[in-house]
Amino acid sequence: MRAPITDLPLAFEDASLRARGVEIVSNLDLKIVSGAPTVLLGPNGSGKSTLLRLAMGLIRPTSGRVTWGGRAIPDERLAMVFQRPVMLRRSAAANVAYALERRDEQRVRALLDRVGLAALAQRPARRLSGGEQQRLALARALARDPEILFLDEPTASLDPAATKAVEDIVQAVAASGVKIVMATHDIGQARRLAGDVVFLARGRLIERAGAAQFFPSPATSEAAAFLRGDLVI
Ligand SMILES: Nc1ncnc2c1ncn2[C@@H]1O[C@H](COP(=O)(O)OP(=O)(O)OP(=O)(O)O)[C@@H](O)[C@H]1O
Ligand SMILES: [Mg+2]
Repeated sequence: MRAPITDLPLAFEDASLRARGVEIVSNLDLKIVSGAPTVLLGPNGSGKSTLLRLAMGLIRPTSGRVTWGGRAIPDERLAMVFQRPVMLRRSAAANVAYALERRDEQRVRALLDRVGLAALAQRPARRLSGGEQQRLALARALARDPEILFLDEPTASLDPAATKAVEDIVQAVAASGVKIVMATHDIGQARRLAGDVVFLARGRLIERAGAAQFFPSPATSEAAAFLRGDLVI
């Protein structure tokens, strides 16, 4: 049996990231705990993808700390669906199989079934539609049996039906106990999925609140402007 290691809480302590003299994330203090999905909401360029890369441990803050369950290094059960997932030039099933530690065709089938792609298992992954590829990326991430699943704009270029299909999967995955941390600039999607919201602008955390509080009565004028649809730069 694996020791019961947990990567939660995932904590940012005064974390900043500078690259080429520019501060991309500034003095971030944030604790992410188990429960309903945490949504990172903010305009383009606000630092959502960068925050996710820090949270995955793919990059290190240039100052401050990121810890997982109090440890400086995460366990292996983190998975991410990137903003632009890249598929292997092979079948959908092969893309999922590749993410598994060992060959297990039943598991591949179950994962494809979970995202509604069982019928397309043998299709070349790169020929799938945008929505199908996003679902395949979800299956591939789930193959890692994650404790925390990071999603970066999982429906950015999808139509409403494809968006709904992805959101239904995300909700089912969250209900199964996986912690979802999702970046989006889509306010409607944040409303539908978020348990709590982290609102970012210019690499800073502007506001953090439960969804039931944030959407009807944001505490900051910037979040209020964003929710009204005003331009927040
Ligand atoms: N390695 C880097 N070097 C310099 N600048 C960077 C680097 N990575 C990101 N940036 C800049 O940091 C800012 C935040 O980028 P990031 O991709 O995290 O934003 P985002 O909120 O995910 O935006 P979007 O909604 O467009 O996906 C942007 O201005 C981006 O150009
Ligand atoms: Mg991004």
